[in-house]
Amino acid sequence: MKTDLIIYNAAQLLTCASNRKPKKGAEMNDLSIIENGAAAILDGKIAAVGETKHILDHFSAKETFDAGGMVVTPGFVECHTHLVFAGDRLEEFELKIKGADYLEILKNGGGILSTVRRTRAASIEDLIETSAKRLDKLLAFGVTTCEIKTGYGLDTESELKMLEAIIELNESHPIELVPTFLPAHAVPPEFKENPDAYVALICREMLPSAAKLLADRGFTGKFYADVFCEKNAFDLIQSKQVLEAARSLGFGIKAHVDEFTNLGGARMAIALDADSIDHLDAISDEEIKMLASSDTIGVVTPTVNFNFGSCDFANARKFIDENCAVALSTDYNPGSAPCPSLPNTMAIACRYQKLLPAEAFNAATINAAFAVGRGSEIGSLEAGKAADILMFDTKDYREIIYEFGGNFIEQVWKSGTAVYEKV
Ligand code: NIG
Ligand code: FE
Repeated sequence: MKTDLIIYNAAQLLTCASNRKPKKGAEMNDLSIIENGAAAILDGKIAAVGETKHILDHFSAKETFDAGGMVVTPGFVECHTHLVFAGDRLEEFELKIKGADYLEILKNGGGILSTVRRTRAASIEDLIETSAKRLDKLLAFGVTTCEIKTGYGLDTESELKMLEAIIELNESHPIELVPTFLPAHAVPPEFKENPDAYVALICREMLPSAAKLLADRGFTGKFYADVFCEKNAFDLIQSKQVLEAARSLGFGIKAHVDEFTNLGGARMAIALDADSIDHLDAISDEEIKMLASSDTIGVVTPTVNFNFGSCDFANARKFIDENCAVALSTDYNPGSAPCPSLPNTMAIACRYQKLLPAEAFNAATINAAFAVGRGSEIGSLEAGKAADILMFDTKDYREIIYEFGGNFIEQVWKSGTAVYEKV
């Protein structure tokens, strides 16, 4: 068979094959590695993977690429970011070092709300320019698909400006984007005395306008709504109202739950068939069991705890041992996790949440793909899936996590096209 591209001679080719299902529990420790592996690519998709000899015997290609004994893996899927924002939170960084509390800072009008002031004042052009640079950093660490949330606008116009920026970036940047509408990220100052009125505005005006913008712009991919279900943000009833309204408008469902406080958000979001529930530091044993028997992915963000200087992490080891499907994310944002590196996030997860390197790889690829509703198309190297492929300058995938703070990426392909090469 004639194909477009064959990448061959990979010391290890991590397929992360899952047969179109998220990996749960013990399955997360299986990467389905092909030693001396190769991949044949046709029309941007994987035509076949196998041992180099087998692929070269059965396929020809317009272009062949010698992986030179390096490691080849699926592209990373970054399933939870707040990457579009203006300004920085350098002062808050110092305040937190001196002991200030994240939710107290928010209550006093800082934190997320300080980024809201800067983001409201920024032009869409500025947001696109600064965000494109951040996406370049993610690409250099191996991200080929990235979810991005709104949530620093908190009024209709500014939330739509953020959403529009995400739609524009999806068209102009090689990383494929999954937009998430998050007007329920914090209560804006105008509604401080009456948060229910803000929730009503979200349901009545903001969500329908966002759905309309996505349709008007011809956006055909998966899109989500999300809510920050937390003390000093949105309570359980308000969160449920927002997510139910979103679901009736065709949004997929995600929820920030149990980051600091258990308000019952995990149970509520699982019952609403959320594709992911994220953070999970304070999830209960009963809710872990509910997660295990659901199709929802549990996304953990150990960067946040690391950034807060805390050694108290979400118990991802227990989630896997209880048979949940776990995904990993940087949670890239200016406040709780200014970190663009998934490999470093995996390094933290292995050390503090006791994931094995194989589990971390599946968490950042195939399970993250399911967390953004794309598990049948991306996240693993299996025939028919997008040829989103990474090549790392090492012979053993574990080294990518064993060394922390580094970057082994040599080359990135998105849908079979080379989009990044180490210089
Ligand atoms: O996932 N928790 C709420 N949202 C983000 C933080 C955003 C920010 O601090 O700006 C999170 O941690
Ligand atoms: Fe978040």
